[in-house]
Amino acid sequence: MKQEILPHGIKKAIIVDKWTLSDIECLAIGAFSPLTGFMEEADYHVVVETMRLANGTVWPLPVTLAVDAFVHDDLVPGDSILLRGEDGVGYAILRVKSCFVPDKMREAELVFRTVDLAHPGVKKLFEKPDLYVGGSVEVLQKPQPERFSDFYLTPAETRERFRENGWKTVVGFQTRNPVHRAHEYIQKAALEIVDGLFLNPLMGETKSDDVPAQVRMKSYLALLENYYPHNRVLLGAFPAAMRYAGPREAVFHALVRKNYGCTHFIVGRDHAGVGDYYGTYDAQHIFSEFAPGELGIQLLFFEHSFYCTACQGMATTKTCPHDKDSHLTLSGTKVREMLRTGITPPPEFTRPEVAIILIEGLQSPQ
Ligand code: ADX
Repeated sequence: MKQEILPHGIKKAIIVDKWTLSDIECLAIGAFSPLTGFMEEADYHVVVETMRLANGTVWPLPVTLAVDAFVHDDLVPGDSILLRGEDGVGYAILRVKSCFVPDKMREAELVFRTVDLAHPGVKKLFEKPDLYVGGSVEVLQKPQPERFSDFYLTPAETRERFRENGWKTVVGFQTRNPVHRAHEYIQKAALEIVDGLFLNPLMGETKSDDVPAQVRMKSYLALLENYYPHNRVLLGAFPAAMRYAGPREAVFHALVRKNYGCTHFIVGRDHAGVGDYYGTYDAQHIFSEFAPGELGIQLLFFEHSFYCTACQGMATTKTCPHDKDSHLTLSGTKVREMLRTGITPPPEFTRPEVAIILIEGLQSPQ
């Protein structure tokens, strides 16, 4: 086999998948601050058990690098590894601090609240190799997005934009979906009390039946163009992958948006959830496990919202007295099915400008 010549000081080079590359990007831009690399053993166990780093700082999700045994076996602290993408480009150097064996069952139980392999996050966890390498990451270059690169803003850039716009209070909105009327309703309810909205859709890997990020981006632009005050919204891509860890991921999403400069963060119903693994408001309840002010960002909790035919407007059970028969609710799966077969969801569910783009994008994704 041909021996590869590596740059001076680099012990080996490995190929990392898209998911890991998106973690590297988030580390590089400071979205995952205070993390500066993949977790070492001490942090990993404490994060899994207590949602904190070893130094006590709140951090709810492991951010780890899983490697095969042939990579792991002869590594020692102090070694450097070149991390290449599937395209062969060297994106980062990992300075190894610890090589360890994770307890994946415990990780699944505590992070995902299930060990069921049908859960997409658990499946991913167990598909990855069984050995972790931790250490700081020095980024050589950021991955280049194929499209919409202008929207890949760093936390330093978003903070600057917020300042330029004169926004003292900014609400962050996480989504892995197109923005439907329920999303719009809670965003606008929040906009009534803060200066700006940071629409920050997740652009990294999602499960295969979610609407592709490129199609979603187009739909966000159409929606913002037609229905939002331009001077009160900033659209920015969040390069991370989706974990589907429900409550813990809600805390993670909030901390990341604080890094982007948001003062407020929206958590609605079943945030970052999938299937029936989490209770509708578990991702809100988890925040009571932290002391007031500890996260450094204010949470805005919203109940399940829907269009009410009797009220003739969007509402939640907090604002609408009518029973379920008057409420228009469609599951995400049902809507995706409609869009894929070219059926336009009712305008009370999705704005027509958005529906057109989604139907087109899902029928002929480029
Ligand atoms: S997520 O996985 O990114 O959280 P999604 O894009 O569906 O999924 O949700 C984005 C945000 O909107 C989350 O905070 C979620 O809780 C909230 N949300 C989604 N649908 C509704 C709804 N019908 N009512 C209230 N909140 C909602």
